[in-house]
Amino acid sequence: MTAPLSTALRLVDTDPAELTTDAIVIGVHSVAGGDGPPGLAGALLLASGAESIAAAFDGKLTETLARLGASGSAGEVTKIATLGTVAAPVVAVVGLGPEPTGAAPVPEILRRGAAAAIRSLAGNESVTVALPLPDDEDGPAALRAVAEGALLGSYKFAGYKTKPAPRQPVADIAVHVPDAADKTAQDEVTRALTVARVVALCRDWVNTAPNDLRPPAFADAVVAAAGAAGLEVEVLDEEQLKAGGYGGILAVGLGSAAPPRLVKLTYKPGGAGDRKRVALVGKGITFDTGGVSIKPAQGMWEMKSDMAGAAAVAATLLAVAELKPDVEVSGYLPMAENMPSATAYRPGDVVTMFNGKKVEVLNTDAEGRMILGDAMARACADGCDFLFETSTLTGGQVIALGKRVAGVMGTPEMCDRVRDAGDAVGEAAWPMPLPDDVRTGMDSDVADISQVNASMDRAGHMLQGGVFLREFVGDGVPWAHIDIAGPSYHSGEPTGHWSKGGTGVPVRTLLELVDRIAAE
Ligand code: BES
Ligand code: ZN
Ligand code: MN
Repeated sequence: MTAPLSTALRLVDTDPAELTTDAIVIGVHSVAGGDGPPGLAGALLLASGAESIAAAFDGKLTETLARLGASGSAGEVTKIATLGTVAAPVVAVVGLGPEPTGAAPVPEILRRGAAAAIRSLAGNESVTVALPLPDDEDGPAALRAVAEGALLGSYKFAGYKTKPAPRQPVADIAVHVPDAADKTAQDEVTRALTVARVVALCRDWVNTAPNDLRPPAFADAVVAAAGAAGLEVEVLDEEQLKAGGYGGILAVGLGSAAPPRLVKLTYKPGGAGDRKRVALVGKGITFDTGGVSIKPAQGMWEMKSDMAGAAAVAATLLAVAELKPDVEVSGYLPMAENMPSATAYRPGDVVTMFNGKKVEVLNTDAEGRMILGDAMARACADGCDFLFETSTLTGGQVIALGKRVAGVMGTPEMCDRVRDAGDAVGEAAWPMPLPDDVRTGMDSDVADISQVNASMDRAGHMLQGGVFLREFVGDGVPWAHIDIAGPSYHSGEPTGHWSKGGTGVPVRTLLELVDRIAAE
């Protein structure tokens, strides 16, 4: 069902002007206050990497670009027919925004630029990317960004069309570097290929039609990939969930003919010694109708993406299995389909969760916290030094922070970690509070806690989710909840490294967090 990304990526260090490839990608900056040709946009400055191409055009490239309408703004792509001036028939010039004030190019601008250029060249076989890569300590980060961006820009969901669409993604990408034999550079390519492949798999899972990815099928797909990667795998089916006391996962699963699952994946590094243990938990609602508290029809199809957290955690574990950081990592993926039916759970129900807490259900559409509470409590029962949970938990996240910035709640140091890691990889995340009054309003008349704060109605929905989940974290466990309702799914036209549909957020953040913990 899911075809992994098949794009190849390698390094070249031959002169870009002499490369026989279908197209060369170079960069251009806008120059603040500079004068371009009269009547046109401001001045342009070709980025490093473009020198030999510029020379072949006899120094006329920037003026030509300006006359073609280029402004150098980030992500803009202008294509030029080379007609014999250089070996490649096409040069694609991608805007990299204003000339960087520091010496180093900004990695995220390179990541977005490389992705936009590669996407715009769909239909070509082979493309060489010659973007600015400093030959110093900033080089690896820039190369990582270019390689990741180029690969992510070649992602396209194969979908279900009976005839394949024309203009297939670029299949063969070369990145121009000062020295293609450099070990650090080669390691970055290997890493980028792994990362892009798991992000593509995560996107594929999110984009898969929800009738094809109900909990048992999703669990099977994850288990197949994890088994092949050499991860330890444990799957709890509905009987085992009952025996284990997973009341939250079972309650949400009641409404569906496709029973719920809990998948646990574990990576243990080889060799002796005590390692830190990282637990990752991801929401796996394969479709969220809202249940008895049913959602409006408009836009409901996007709720096929309500398993983006689980897909991201599974993808992260697959990358970890290949990259082998020196830290133990477990992934917990509670999976259920939230349906209204004669057997569904209902508002007013009281559910006993895995940690024994009794929850009064007030809205069956707040199903994510029910399955996550169980999975987080299980992760803490197994033992962990860090707990990161990610979920498409609330529409309130989208209202508060928009479609690009995830909301982060939890212990303050962990929130800072998530924000910093997200910044480093181009997946923005912002810390949000867990106010006392939000918890007070969740006191239930009949149970230990209500599922939502009834007195607040729609106010602070994102915070209500965080406050609820805190109840399922073991004493003293550092934790963070990452609400990805907005950033995990991109409904607009593709832009930068965001393809349409599933984005793969926050796979690269989770990987960065794991890498940083391993390096501590
Ligand atoms: N899966 C939704 C949240 C969501 C909304 C994700 C939009 C992506 C885009 C979640 O299960 C949900 O329904 N949340 C409710 C919570 C409420 C009932 C307390 C919401 O946000 O309205
Ligand atoms: Zn949901
Ligand atoms: Mn819901």
